[in-house]
This record gives sequence, C-alpha cells and structure tokens, in this order.
Amino acid sequence: MSESYRQLLDATIQHLEGLKARGVRHVSVTPESLRARALPARPTLATTSGPKPFSLAPVVAKPVPAPIALAAKPLVQPGTQNPKLGTTDKTAAFAALRDRALACVKCPNLASSRTNVVFGVGNLDAQVMFVGEAPGADEDAQGEPFVGAAGQLLTKIIGATGLSRADVYIANILKCRPDMPAGSSGNRKPTPEEMQTCIPFLHEQIDLIQPKVLVALGGTAAEGLLGLTGIMKLRGQWQTYRGVPLMPTYHPAYLLRNQAMTEKRRVWEDMLAVMEKLGMPISEKQRNFFLKA
Ligand code: URA
Repeated sequence: MSESYRQLLDATIQHLEGLKARGVRHVSVTPESLRARALPARPTLATTSGPKPFSLAPVVAKPVPAPIALAAKPLVQPGTQNPKLGTTDKTAAFAALRDRALACVKCPNLASSRTNVVFGVGNLDAQVMFVGEAPGADEDAQGEPFVGAAGQLLTKIIGATGLSRADVYIANILKCRPDMPAGSSGNRKPTPEEMQTCIPFLHEQIDLIQPKVLVALGGTAAEGLLGLTGIMKLRGQWQTYRGVPLMPTYHPAYLLRNQAMTEKRRVWEDMLAVMEKLGMPISEKQRNFFLKA
C-alpha cells in the first residue's frame, strides 16, 4: 500500500470516527467517490497510445449514483486563505465543507427545486481545477458536475491533455441547478444574488485544493471568479485569482453549439497554455491538434 493511499485511508477512517462520535450512524458513498479513493493521488500524464484530440461524438451515459450525505462541522474558517494542510486535515476539511454545501438552503427556490447539491468532483491534490457555471439537468440528477453532453466534451478535452477527470478537480460557481419554470427543460444563467450566495463554497474549495492553475469555463465562471465580463475577449489571456494563474476559455457547451474548427483550436490553445504553465510534456501531435493538415 502506498504512503499516500495509507494517509488517505487514515484520513477517511478518522473522519468517519469523528462522525460516529457525533452520533451519525449512516453514510452513503457514491461509486465515483469510491473510485477516487482507489486512484493514485498525483496525475498520471501519459497513456500508451497517447492523447487524442477531442471529438464531439457522444459517449454512453453513466448510471445515476446516490449522493454522499454526511453531517460534520467545518474545520477551516470560511473565506480565509488556508495554509498548506496535510492530507488528513485537508480530507477532513473538504468533507466538512461538502457537508455544509449539501445542507445549504440559502437560496430557498434552488433548495426546493434541486435533486442534488452538485458540490464538485476530483482530486483534492489536483494541480488544475476547472470551474463551470452551474449544474444542468443531468448534473442535478447525478450529483456530479459536467456529466451531460457538455461534460462529456470537457472529459474529452481533459483527456486530450493526457490527464483524466480523476487527476483534476471540477466544480461550478453555483452548486444547485438554477430552477426553471414548470414544464421548461432548458437552463438559465445564475442570478448575481445566487452567485454571490454560493461562491464562498467555491472560494473555500480553491483555498483547500490550492491548484497551480484554474480554468474558467465560459463567461459566468470568469465573471464569478474575476468579476470580469466578456469571455470572447478574455479567453486565452492569463488572469490571476488570488495569486493563482487563471485561464479563461470557452464553455464546452459553446463548442457543442459552434462546431467550427477555429473555435475548437482556440480552446485547445488555452489548454496548451495550461499544460505549459504546469510543465506538462506536450507532443508534436498535441501541438497540432485542430490545425489544418
Ligand atoms: N455546465 C456547467 O457549467 N456545469 C456543469 O456542471 C454542467 C454543465
């Protein structure tokens, strides 16, 4: 058993014992979360056949997992930049933060319309964190961000860099699906009030994970994190969020609507910039994805 796995196991046991001591008797765990606990903590960059450019072909839908539902107290002060935490403290602090988010009812309309709070998914030691707008219907149903059509494209974009979803962390500005009028199946942009109410959870996630790079997916993510509007101009230009380099890029849903090669290449160039910033190896093939032959 590797040292990092043993630390993760110890942290999990400690957290569960803490819950038990506080009277919690039932804990449900998602298949995703179980899988994450079985994975190595650091990114694995290369695959034998090498990363492929992302295509827009759909992939098969996953079964619906049950959400994690725990009750715990916060270990860190909300809104503060945390010092580097050890694995045990970080895991416990993250679990406590998740519990608070899952119990949140600050937006009564969203609390009553949601199926799941979509907290976030991935590696707590991720070097790169992707931030989207808000859960859609699929994410609300499954309790996991970016699992619908746009999410499947995001998974392919991440795969094209040589990373996987398990290497990175994925979250949204809003943790609940923006409610829609009865009978309407579309999505709506979060209101400024909803964003302001929810964003402290994301700030704390970033403070705990301390990624080397943030990627803002689309205008709402850029606006929520930077207070800047105009993703068409912002994309591809490095920004800084509380000292962390942040790359704004187009939302994958935009790429589904506009399938022009030029737009895919723009997003890919943003990913190449992220890979360079992280010191990741970039093959000649990767450099040339979405360039005309
Ligand atoms: N779009 C987002 O911005 N986030 C999701 O989780 C899914 C779609």
